[in-house]
Amino acid sequence: MSANITPSQSRPPHGEDGPGLSAHVGTVEEPAGQNRRSEPHYHTQRESVLVIDFGSQYSRLIARRVREANVYCELIEHTAEWDEVRHLNPKGVILSGGPASVYETGAPLAPSWVFDRDLPVLGICYGMQALVHQLGGQVEPSGKREFGHAILQQRGSDHPIFEGLSQSFPVWMSHGDRIVEQPSGFAAVAHTENSPIAATSNERNVIGIQFHPEVVHTPDGTRILENFVHSICGCGRNWNPSNFIEDAVDDIRSQVGDGKVICALSGGVDSAVAACLIHRAVGDQLTCIFVNNGFMRLEEPERIIDTFRRNMNVNIVHVDASDEFVDALSEVIDPEDKRRTVGEQFIKVFDREAARLGQVDFLAQGTLYPDVIESQTPGDNVSAKIKSHHNVGGLPEEMKLELVEPLRYLFKDEVRMVGLELGLAEEMVYRQPFPGPGLAIRVMGAVTREKLDTLRAADWIVMDEIKANGLYRDLWQSFAVLTDTMSVGVVGDFRAYGYVVAVRAVTSEEAMTADWARLPHDVLGRISSRIVNEVPSVSRVVYDITSKPPGTIEWE
Ligand code: XMP
Repeated sequence: MSANITPSQSRPPHGEDGPGLSAHVGTVEEPAGQNRRSEPHYHTQRESVLVIDFGSQYSRLIARRVREANVYCELIEHTAEWDEVRHLNPKGVILSGGPASVYETGAPLAPSWVFDRDLPVLGICYGMQALVHQLGGQVEPSGKREFGHAILQQRGSDHPIFEGLSQSFPVWMSHGDRIVEQPSGFAAVAHTENSPIAATSNERNVIGIQFHPEVVHTPDGTRILENFVHSICGCGRNWNPSNFIEDAVDDIRSQVGDGKVICALSGGVDSAVAACLIHRAVGDQLTCIFVNNGFMRLEEPERIIDTFRRNMNVNIVHVDASDEFVDALSEVIDPEDKRRTVGEQFIKVFDREAARLGQVDFLAQGTLYPDVIESQTPGDNVSAKIKSHHNVGGLPEEMKLELVEPLRYLFKDEVRMVGLELGLAEEMVYRQPFPGPGLAIRVMGAVTREKLDTLRAADWIVMDEIKANGLYRDLWQSFAVLTDTMSVGVVGDFRAYGYVVAVRAVTSEEAMTADWARLPHDVLGRISSRIVNEVPSVSRVVYDITSKPPGTIEWE
């Protein structure tokens, strides 16, 4: 393993098992834009609540909370015009928090349509200050910054935003500015010790709250957001997997018409759910290409083929290119060179197979909403750009494929729910992330068939024990690594000289940070004794107790 890898620069940001091709191409950044992304959106929206993103670290969380209340929600930029969002059928708007101060020049403000259209508005923290400022009130720096827990006291009769809550309850604050004068028609509906106007509202359901209902430190926050979207905006509980599937199928049909679609299956949940949805929409017009790169785990290629070809009757081209990949890596030692080689090899094989299919019009990808949000840069048209590593720029330009991305408005947990609703096996839906270059970056140093087989056998045992002990879903990832260290052991009366296998198990939210899992000692003991007994070329097992940072999840 080279010591000077900087993960943030050299690796994909998420570690998901990847939207289609990106999972395989790893870090190969291809020129973007050869294949076309088409708007409009995939969901024939019934109704929605929009979050205007003023740049808070919690904006995305607000969108998730609203969706958890079964109301569709998108993050939009503060520069978005009404014409860009009207197709989402907004029933209300939430103004997020943000780092700016409204009295600074250039501070972001809500577009005028937010107030002109008479929609209910909920301003959160900076969002509250923005609406107060825009509607004629006054905001000033507060002498005392309020950060952390506070007790909110309702004033007077219950406001519908606080329906079902006690007269006072704990909230989470994080602000330096405060309201000193409310716009005309507004009245304070709650205060805290440091904020005389901690919540304000007018008769037309324009509401500001100084605290953050979206974070867990505001225990009743979910109820407050539910009150807003259900009671105040009047949204029904329409956002659920079966409605999504119905809408997505309609949208895919209208986009694809009688065109032909190809989709690269990686074995991960995103490409599987995307393929499944597209298959439901256009059946045999979809062909999936599954490239076995030789770096998958034991029985994995067979399971993928079984799921799609046998159980779901999807057209699959199964390419066993393992020899090509393993040969291409025979002299490669540097982890980043391995990734690059696997990526280039994948594109070569995929191009070759796609060309054999004749005329193809669409390329399916399992791009998710966080990728879409992250690729937005200020001033961009909403949902206009995807990071270049999510583009399949490696495909020949003359293919001119239009992208079909049915998951591009879903969060990961929503993809899983849709997968289950579509009937995909739990095993596939809850699969732990697996890197595109697969076992190639878990065999330290040069990759050989023998080492891959040894690692596969050891990895199988890790997985078997983790699953048998009910730990699989609690762990972000759990796997074996074949180190390039040899060690002495004793087997019966003989001296053995074999590989050292490292076991890695981590807990994590999004792979940006991770902690080594405190696995029960008896589980570790069983994993170790099974590996040294059942895998002849391994003489020793060690457990990796490095967290990230400073370590990375993968060893290479
Ligand atoms: P690290 O090792 O950087 O990994 O902590 C974070 C997450 O990313 C995954 N990973 C990859 N995924 N191609 C991928 O598709 C890659 O080259 C790659 N490298 C790391 C890793 O499994 C973890 O989930």
